[in-house]
Amino acid sequence: MARFLLWIPLVLSLSACAEESAQQVSVIERGRQLYGRNGCATCHGPDGHGDGQISQMQPPPRDFRQPENFRYGYEVEQIAATIRDGVSSDRSVMPKYGYLPAADRSALAMFIRSLATPDSVESSKE
Ligand code: HEC
Repeated sequence: MARFLLWIPLVLSLSACAEESAQQVSVIERGRQLYGRNGCATCHGPDGHGDGQISQMQPPPRDFRQPENFRYGYEVEQIAATIRDGVSSDRSVMPKYGYLPAADRSALAMFIRSLATPDSVESSKE
């Protein structure tokens, strides 16, 4: 009986964890859908590698595997703000998505962050 009781907190805390990460996964999944629906892939590529059909511009659409290349910040709020305001420089342009609800822009930002590779700093040196 005592051994059984010991398991209860463990099981409870495990299920709390699972719930939290399930929520996060569903936000990321929603971000993935929004990414497809809003045409981000046209420039950023189907997997966010910066290799979409319209990617021959300078600077090129960001490769989302490489957080260190973000120019306007990598926090969720900062990425969401970039999505809201778009980017325009001399020869390259990203549209504004200010018409999307804030929650959608955050979901997109979380999806984008989920694409970072752990060894991105190494591969960017190649
Ligand atoms: C017409 C092409 C195009 C489309 C469509 C587009 N982007 Fe971009 N995006 C770019 C380009 C080009 C850059 C890099 C601009 C620069 O560095 O000046 C960029 C940069 C970014 C950045 C990085 C900003 C930073 O801090 O460096 C994010 C995040 C981003 N795009 C998200 C998105 C999302 C999400 C969508 C869809 C909702 C999207 N983009 C649609 C072209 C596009």
